[in-house]
Amino acid sequence: MKLVDLSVGEPGPGELRIRHQACGLNFIDVYQRTGLYNNPLPLTLGMEGAGIVEAVGEGVTHLKPGDRAAYASQPPGAYSQLRVMPAKAVVKLPDAISFEDGAAMMLKGLTVQYLLRKTQPVGGLQPGDFVLFHAAAGGVGLIACQWARAMGLQLIGTAGSDEKCQLALDHGASHAINYRSENFVDRVRQITGGAGVKVVYDSVGKDTFERSLDVLRPFGLLANFGNASGKAPPVDLGVLAAKGSLYVTRPTLFTHIATRESTQAMADDLFGMVTSGAVKIRIDQRYPLAQAAEAHRELESRATTGCTILLP
Ligand SMILES: NC(=O)c1ccc[n+]([C@@H]2O[C@H](COP(=O)([O-])OP(=O)(O)OC[C@H]3O[C@@H](n4cnc5c(N)ncnc54)[C@H](OP(=O)(O)O)[C@@H]3O)[C@@H](O)[C@H]2O)c1
Repeated sequence: MKLVDLSVGEPGPGELRIRHQACGLNFIDVYQRTGLYNNPLPLTLGMEGAGIVEAVGEGVTHLKPGDRAAYASQPPGAYSQLRVMPAKAVVKLPDAISFEDGAAMMLKGLTVQYLLRKTQPVGGLQPGDFVLFHAAAGGVGLIACQWARAMGLQLIGTAGSDEKCQLALDHGASHAINYRSENFVDRVRQITGGAGVKVVYDSVGKDTFERSLDVLRPFGLLANFGNASGKAPPVDLGVLAAKGSLYVTRPTLFTHIATRESTQAMADDLFGMVTSGAVKIRIDQRYPLAQAAEAHRELESRATTGCTILLP
């Protein structure tokens, strides 16, 4: 990755030009850089940012030049000072939320929104229910711990060190398991009195996927939403029957934010959680944009906690 100068033009119909104040770093940027998710090259990475709208194209009515705004969006391109992009994924950022928090939370917070609110087992989730959330001390993870607490859920978090486990507990996880030193299947059984959890939110993928099936209650749901350790293996449907009529889904945020209306409704929910203080955005790493490669190395080596932003 290197910093280069490119010319940025005027927004076309349905587009806007935004001057970034901060950009979010996400694990999906790693998948795109390594080629796990294919994109044509050369590529400007980045799917999350916050800044000031400079110009809007024909047909854009929900934003105007001078507005504070933030987004999680395809196509990539957020690692920049300035970009032209589709306006439908961009929303007004409330004055009470800083640009840094806006840049850190849109992709990760909207993900937690659709996971906890909309990716639920048959019969839904009720206060007191157990869910398992892997990588609970990461960017998405620490938002999920707090959001789950606000919903009254008992979130069991896994993380790769005792310090990370403590962080998950400090942010609202009811229990935390160091899955590098403990067998998380045994521990979840113990914590839930043998019953298992209603949902596993698994973004680790390859290393955890099969064992995640072993901690579900009958009719439980495994939501595999990431591949931090590699892609989850193919599923033998017979295994789902044998383990208790289980459900598996592989959701992505981009289906949920496909329209401006759904994006705005989800963002309103997220902004409400943040402005009420129920969810605090924790930014543990800040890098100048020119050091994006270093930021990737840290994220991939499991050296980060909470959110990371790049400052253009
Ligand atoms: N499908 C969607 O809609 C969607 C949207 C947003 C994010 N995601 C996924 O959610 C996950 C979290 O995203 P994030 O940006 O907030 O990242 P993150 O959680 O801050 O970082 C990833 C974490 O995964 C854990 N991990 C476990 N095994 C790993 C391995 N072999 N290599 C690297 N990390 C490993 C590490 O935590 P420990 O050391 O504690 O294990 C690491 O800190 C990612 O998998 C991402 O792709 C999916």
